[in-house]
Amino acid sequence: MEVASASQWPTLGALRTPSMLPVLASGLVTELAYAFGGPFHFLLPDAFTANLVAMQDALSDALVDGFIYYAKKANKAAVFVERAATGGAGIDVASAAELREALGHGVRGEHLMVTGPAKDPHLLRLAVTHSATIAVDALDELDQVISLALTGRVRPARVLLRVLPDSQPHSRFGMSKDELTTALKRCLEAGDVIRMEGFSFHLSGYALQPRADLAARLIDLCLTARLQGLEASRISIGGGLPISYTDADSWHTFLATQRPAHYHANKAFTTGDFYPYHSPVAGSDALAALLAARPENTDSTLADLIRDAGIELLLEPGRALLDQAGATVFRIQGVKDRDGYQLLTVDGTSLSLSEQWFNSEYLPDPLLIPQNQNPAATGVFPASVGAATCLESDMLTWRKIAFPHPPRVGDLLLYPNTAGYQMDSNESPFHDLPLPPKVVIEHTDRTRPRWRLDRHFT
Ligand SMILES: Cc1ncc(COP(=O)(O)O)c(C=O)c1O
Repeated sequence: MEVASASQWPTLGALRTPSMLPVLASGLVTELAYAFGGPFHFLLPDAFTANLVAMQDALSDALVDGFIYYAKKANKAAVFVERAATGGAGIDVASAAELREALGHGVRGEHLMVTGPAKDPHLLRLAVTHSATIAVDALDELDQVISLALTGRVRPARVLLRVLPDSQPHSRFGMSKDELTTALKRCLEAGDVIRMEGFSFHLSGYALQPRADLAARLIDLCLTARLQGLEASRISIGGGLPISYTDADSWHTFLATQRPAHYHANKAFTTGDFYPYHSPVAGSDALAALLAARPENTDSTLADLIRDAGIELLLEPGRALLDQAGATVFRIQGVKDRDGYQLLTVDGTSLSLSEQWFNSEYLPDPLLIPQNQNPAATGVFPASVGAATCLESDMLTWRKIAFPHPPRVGDLLLYPNTAGYQMDSNESPFHDLPLPPKVVIEHTDRTRPRWRLDRHFT
């Protein structure tokens, strides 16, 4: 394979943080690949804890009373639930299994937020029993909660009313203005069976201003509901804090230069379908910026409005808490020459890289970790990455990655920053391939990081 010129191939180098560097330096990745003999995910819970603390600090710096629920759907591992529990956070769950996992890994019932549409009656019963907060999505769901609280021994049932956003009128989540009016009436009629704690939303997309605007509307709704005699003291603004996988320059250069010739089979992606891999403000900085934003029709910041109204701000971040908290490793088991590039086959599937299933591509460059003792040539060696399945479309990376060495059979490919949704939301044991195990790597500050298997139950 001929050496190509570097500038010919758009690259997207991933940001690396203090939790990842010692793992890469320790040689542990190679050892784990040998131990598991197949693809595996590794998790860096110290990064999760650092993200959580930074968000809690953003709330307290803005003098805002707030509480963070980690959106568990973003990763199935137990370790993040354990870290949320010990870090003073709750969990956002959307199924009975997630609720069980959260309780089983140390989260108290009252620190659970139950989200999702038309919830399973079993989930609602568990939620009421354990005093979880339920983000009620429809009127019939509210009726079910009221009757569960009436018949069960535990009351009141704690609810937020989920609002259908004006800016996303086609969302299948939330209640319209008329439905909210009826819901408030039913909450009042239910008396002490229900504790109407406030309102919630979750917006698609990552823009901050629409979140600030809708949060202000929820505060107004709380004030009106209070006049009717309801508690209405909390608002949940859902998730959607953006994160940066790469720096601004790399991202904008990538978008400007990438074209179908850079992908296997001339695959064309719509750039608008790519996740925004760089965001000018991300994670806890995005939360701080949101609190400092001025919602429409007011001169006050969102933080001021929250404080003045005596509201507790609830958040349900998933991806942003998992930023830099894990990676996924595959072994190359085949290398084919194609016209001007190579086609690699790894020992796993793109089901372990979920972005590939949304008409899109997981773009951060995978890192090539050579395993062969003989030094490999250096230069630019473009290659796309396919899966070990019979599906033509099962590609981990359609893009021809500009590797710095020729990839060889037995070398490892490390996909960075996969903990948020990428690694496990779509996994299935297709072809009877086992699901990649999850390895928790802790104490990255020691000379030798330590590892163990995650304690996920199911
Ligand atoms: C209700 C709700 N809360 C929180 C989240 C988490 O969003 P993110 O991972 O973007 O922070 C989602 C994601 O779909 C959601 O639907």
